[in-house]
Amino acid sequence: MGLVTAIIPAAGSGSRIGSSSYKQFMELGGKPVIIHTLEKFQQSSEIDEMVVVFPPDKVREFSGRIAAYGFHKPIRFVAGGERRQDSVHQAFLSVNGRQTELVVIHDAVRPLVEADLIQRVVERARLTGAAIAAIQAVDTIKEVSSKDVVVATLNRSTLRQVQTPQAFAYPILRKALQRAYADGYYGTDDSSLVERIGIQVAVVPGSPLNIKITTPADVRFAELILRARG
Ligand code: C5P
Repeated sequence: MGLVTAIIPAAGSGSRIGSSSYKQFMELGGKPVIIHTLEKFQQSSEIDEMVVVFPPDKVREFSGRIAAYGFHKPIRFVAGGERRQDSVHQAFLSVNGRQTELVVIHDAVRPLVEADLIQRVVERARLTGAAIAAIQAVDTIKEVSSKDVVVATLNRSTLRQVQTPQAFAYPILRKALQRAYADGYYGTDDSSLVERIGIQVAVVPGSPLNIKITTPADVRFAELILRARG
């Protein structure tokens, strides 16, 4: 069995949260968001090494901050790209294809992920080649026009809200990325690239607590969950 490499894209800027600071370094329970995330991958027995992607002009500074926490798994830092997919691609190019069996991708800004979910996604990808975490949609989801008029009401029972982690066999992700860049395709998640090359993607139940920190309200919610977990 080959290595399992975790790619942690953390090269986004903080623009959506309305602050000049970087979401991945916001303090949560006394530690930066990304430290919570990396601790979960450090704890997971499934993960052999981690690749963290930072904004190109911040790699030196941010990697210094991570190093201060003394993670003992092999961890390397890579300069990201303009879009999240570019950042994942840059990290992927640093992965050794001869040694690596699976690549697990997880947003740095989902710090409430639990080791159990990482394990379930990895185990499923080991069997199927591609697996993602997702939860049932609880709200009704409608398609709307550019003028904010309802076009269609989608069948909720077939809808899932997709999260990370997402895990793929190395050759599958390589082919998916190659095809996406050849076609000029950008997806909003990694598995959409894999779907495009005709590979079935297995869905593993995620967690409603595995939120992506996007707004100040998310930070407050995450603080509460961390406190409740002790
Ligand atoms: O912007 P979004 O919320 O989709 O970002 C999800 C994750 O992707 C974040 O951890 C962010 O830092 C990362 N990202 C990245 N490179 C970009 C944009 C986002 O690594 N160019």
